[in-house]
Amino acid sequence: MLIHDTIASLRAARAKAGRVALVPTMGNLHEGHIALMTQARGHADQVIATIFVNRLQFRPGEDFEKYPRTFEADCQRMEAAGVEHVFAPLESEMYPQPQTYHVEPPPEQAGILDGEFRPGHFRGVATVVMKLFQIAQPDVALFGKKDYQQLMVIRNMVSDFNLPIEIIGGETVRASDGLALSSRNGYLTDAERAEAPALYREISGLAAAVLTGDRNFSRLEAMAMENLKLRGWFPDYVALRKKADLQSPSAQDSGLVVLAAARLGSTRLIDNLEI
Ligand code: PAF
Repeated sequence: MLIHDTIASLRAARAKAGRVALVPTMGNLHEGHIALMTQARGHADQVIATIFVNRLQFRPGEDFEKYPRTFEADCQRMEAAGVEHVFAPLESEMYPQPQTYHVEPPPEQAGILDGEFRPGHFRGVATVVMKLFQIAQPDVALFGKKDYQQLMVIRNMVSDFNLPIEIIGGETVRASDGLALSSRNGYLTDAERAEAPALYREISGLAAAVLTGDRNFSRLEAMAMENLKLRGWFPDYVALRKKADLQSPSAQDSGLVVLAAARLGSTRLIDNLEI
C-alpha cells in the first residue's frame, strides 16, 4: 500500500492504476469504512482511499479540532483491507490558499434535514468531494448510506456536472445492539453508549408502523421525537422522506426512508432506515 501526501504523487499513481474505485473518508476508520473498501475491490483494479478531515464542512463550534485523527491504526486497517493507495494530504496541499470557488448544492437538497441544522455543511462536502474527484479521477466512488443526505447530494452533483463516475452507496454497518457505526460514537460516555441504540430502535419502530399501514406521518415523527426527548435526547429531527429526493411524502407515496438526528449529551448522532 502506497501513501501519498501530494496531489502530484497520487495523480502519477492513478495514471497507472487502470479502473479505480475511490473511498473518501475523514479517517478514524471503523467497520463501515472497511466494508466500503472491501466492496470497492469488486468494482475496480485498484482502490484509492482518502483520509482528510475537511475543515470546510464543519461549522464554527463543531468538532473539527477534536475529530479523532488515528492515521497509524487507519493505515493498518486499510492495508489489511487490500487498499492500494491512500491519499492523506495536509490542509496546505488541499487548500494552499483559502478556497474561493465552491460547489453550492441547491437549498432544497442541502438546506433541509441536516443542512437546516448545519448550514453550509453540504457545500463543504460537495466542494471537497469535487476536488477529490478531480485529483483521483475515479471510475467509481463509494459512500456510506449512513450519511444518506450526503449520498444524495453527491449523486446529484455527479449527475448535474456530467462526471463520468459511478456512485455506489454502501449499507450502514451496525454494532450488535443496532447502533450505526460512526467515528463520533467514540465521543460517547459509557452511559451514553448504552443509551445510543435507542435512536435506531425509535426509527425502526416508526418504520414498522409505516409498514403496517399507518400513514399519519407527522404524528409518527412527533411521537418518535417525544420518545427520544423523554429518554433525555435532544432531537433535531425525525423525518419520513422520499428516498429519491428526500422531500416530504404524501400518504400514497412508497419508497420512503426515515432519517433522524439527535444529540445525546454533547454528541450528535444521525441514523436512517429505508422502508
Ligand atoms: O463522509 C465523510 O467522511 C466526509 O463527509 C467525506 C465524504 C469524506 C468528505 O469530507
